[in-house]
Amino acid sequence: MSITLNDTRGGSAQPGGEEILAIRGGRPLSGRVSVKGAKNLVTKAMVAALLGETTSVLRDVPNISDVAVVRSLLEVHGVHVSEGDEPGSLVMDPSEVESAHMEEIDAYAGSSRIPILFCGPLLHRLGQAFIPDLGGCRIGDRPIDFHLDALRKFGAVVEKLPSGIRLSAPQGLKGANIHLPYPSVGATEQVLLTAVRASGTTELKNAAIEPEIMDLIGVLQKMGAIISYEPNRVIVIEGVDELRGYDHRAIFDRNEAASWAAAALATDGEIFVEGARQQDMLTFLNAVRRMNGDFDIREDGILFRRGGELRPVTVETDVHPGFMTDWQQPLIVAMTQAEGESIVHETVYENRFGFTDALNKMGANIVVHPHGLQDGPRRVPRRQLEQAAVINGKTALHGADIVVPDLRGGYSHVIAALTAEGESTVRNIGIIRRGYERLLEKLTDLGADFDVVG
Ligand code: EPZ
Repeated sequence: MSITLNDTRGGSAQPGGEEILAIRGGRPLSGRVSVKGAKNLVTKAMVAALLGETTSVLRDVPNISDVAVVRSLLEVHGVHVSEGDEPGSLVMDPSEVESAHMEEIDAYAGSSRIPILFCGPLLHRLGQAFIPDLGGCRIGDRPIDFHLDALRKFGAVVEKLPSGIRLSAPQGLKGANIHLPYPSVGATEQVLLTAVRASGTTELKNAAIEPEIMDLIGVLQKMGAIISYEPNRVIVIEGVDELRGYDHRAIFDRNEAASWAAAALATDGEIFVEGARQQDMLTFLNAVRRMNGDFDIREDGILFRRGGELRPVTVETDVHPGFMTDWQQPLIVAMTQAEGESIVHETVYENRFGFTDALNKMGANIVVHPHGLQDGPRRVPRRQLEQAAVINGKTALHGADIVVPDLRGGYSHVIAALTAEGESTVRNIGIIRRGYERLLEKLTDLGADFDVVG
């Protein structure tokens, strides 16, 4: 495998975004796809490699542009990155970590959200860090206040510059008591990656506990960290003086697995997702079953298909162990094919239904309520952020000319085009490469009918 910067076209805000597909839909997607390591673990584990004194090996790394961006940022800081002894493995040697020039780092401004996680490791290694302006999907404000508040508690000095932030730690980093206002995935990772080498003990309350975070804790423990996971979202980290490299096989990408499952339901096909594991997808599988989707759990993966006519369902996105915000977009395409009213309450991001405009253009009946539906309590109340989408099915979808807005919304556009009768033109396909490896090859393997036209 080769993971190269070519995939990111020089670190632009929307890597490789311009590709166009002509998709002829209306036929089931059937066959087998395999999912590799989770984007949302792999990129963080790559950052963790910076903390070790010796070489780390990460396995099952997907060839996606987010990985290419993080690889380049590691290389800019002097980490030697090469392919390992098996396809999809990366070897990261941090023995010559050095400060990078601001201009070199700045070349990656707007390309990903992962650079914010370089703060702690760079402060430990170099005593300073420059983090460029962040990118990632435009699905809301996506502030970094939890990150910066936590870093300040560790003793970091944060200076905002026109093109990013500069951090220093004149007194070194010290363990802290941190209570997150919300169980943010990124802020929890920020605390973990900073606390493992801070002096003293850190107690993190209201932590995110996504399976990818548990896998990152596993990586850090292999490196020599002491981290205990206590009841009620509390994580305690005892700082250590030195960490070594790790050898780790990444947890599978449950977001990609859920995406292919939704594709099977939407197109009335049958897809075996090799590498998917039941334990990390229990909440998603319950939603599938309520929709009258069917699945067969096997040792090496999960087979998804309809169990008959699809039924409407109500879901509420949430932090783990709730229904992930990244699952709602592909599943909404399947909901357009269910007879009756489905509802999705989005409580994690404040702007994650923009993709439904294109679905409506294709014939769906989806009404977005920008301030949510006031119909009962949510598990984590965040009324100021909440929105809801009401999907009335079953609607026949027809081809249309559509533009991919973000990663998960973009994937759902492709699935909608494959569900629709007639031909669709789907633009900006490259955005989907941020998180879906070998997308076009996998679609071909499943019998999709499309051409790359630009
Ligand atoms: C991670 O984003 C994932 N990204 C997202 O996946 C995923 O949707 C999200 O977690 C939720 O599971 C990566 O892992 C790279 P958060 P992250 O911090 O860490 C607010 C995908 O498609 N917040 O848990 O950025 C924030 O605005 C992507 O794969 C603050 O207010 O998510 C949001 O409303 C998209 N201040 C909520 O918390 C902060 O400082 C959850 O964000 C940080 C977050």
